[in-house]
Amino acid sequence: MDRIDLTPFIGAELTGVTYEDLQRDDVFDELVTALHQRELVIIRGIEVTPRQQVDLAVRIGRPIPFVLEQYRYPELPEIMISSNEVRDNKSIGVARVGNFWHQDSSFVAKPAEYTMLHGVNVPQTSGHTLFASAVDVYDRLPDDWKKKIDDRKAWHTVAKRLRIRSEHVGLSTAEYRAWIEEKHPKVEHPLVRQDPFTKQTYLYGAPEYMDSVQGFDANENEAFFTLLDSLIQDPDHVYTHRWTPDDLVVWKTSTTLHAATDVEPGVARTVHRVSIEAEQPWAE
Ligand SMILES: [Fe+2]
Repeated sequence: MDRIDLTPFIGAELTGVTYEDLQRDDVFDELVTALHQRELVIIRGIEVTPRQQVDLAVRIGRPIPFVLEQYRYPELPEIMISSNEVRDNKSIGVARVGNFWHQDSSFVAKPAEYTMLHGVNVPQTSGHTLFASAVDVYDRLPDDWKKKIDDRKAWHTVAKRLRIRSEHVGLSTAEYRAWIEEKHPKVEHPLVRQDPFTKQTYLYGAPEYMDSVQGFDANENEAFFTLLDSLIQDPDHVYTHRWTPDDLVVWKTSTTLHAATDVEPGVARTVHRVSIEAEQPWAE
């Protein structure tokens, strides 16, 4: 087995590894070590069944069942099917997941620590996943901004990403806001945190999942979010994962910013996702 750094700022790829190899503790430990050191680990073209994917997840932590039953893999509630495919006039999975920059589930109080994807049916010409490092984003903040955000917390929310649904029709803006506040209350997280494994400082929060920074006025907030967007999306600091069949991709949710790119019209794409909680929560 070989380990290659994908970029200077994020990601390691393990090559020459099969599912059978991963049964050996020393090989699996290499995967976990790479994950903790490099935030994101990729093994290309590794054939694993859905059951085997869950078994791998169990060795990292505690896989958590996906909330929407209709999009779980049969008999394996831990697997969320992310797919644009339709069978018998029914979507087989959740279409268009995460097509904006984010850290997974930062809008909940205790996000699961790891995400694991397996590429089941993946086009190679579109539907890529972009990755950036929250450590690298923090490093590139100008010093005056580092000072301004030190010890501050931010409000995180899913409100910007919610779509208006039929149950909202007829609500006033104020009523709609009240509905969101009741169903998806904002949560607060420190903006600046330290990774428990690398001890590196990172920025926790991406504008699409943040409402505001506590203590900032509207202008400061807008300036900060604009700065963050430019740092996160700087092409020199983004790794693009172009999927090939059976790729296994695992990341730490706190330090890994990512975004899905669009899939070409008429092209099928299915990925299996498992969310994994650490045995010992990392923060808060
Ligand atoms: Fe995500």
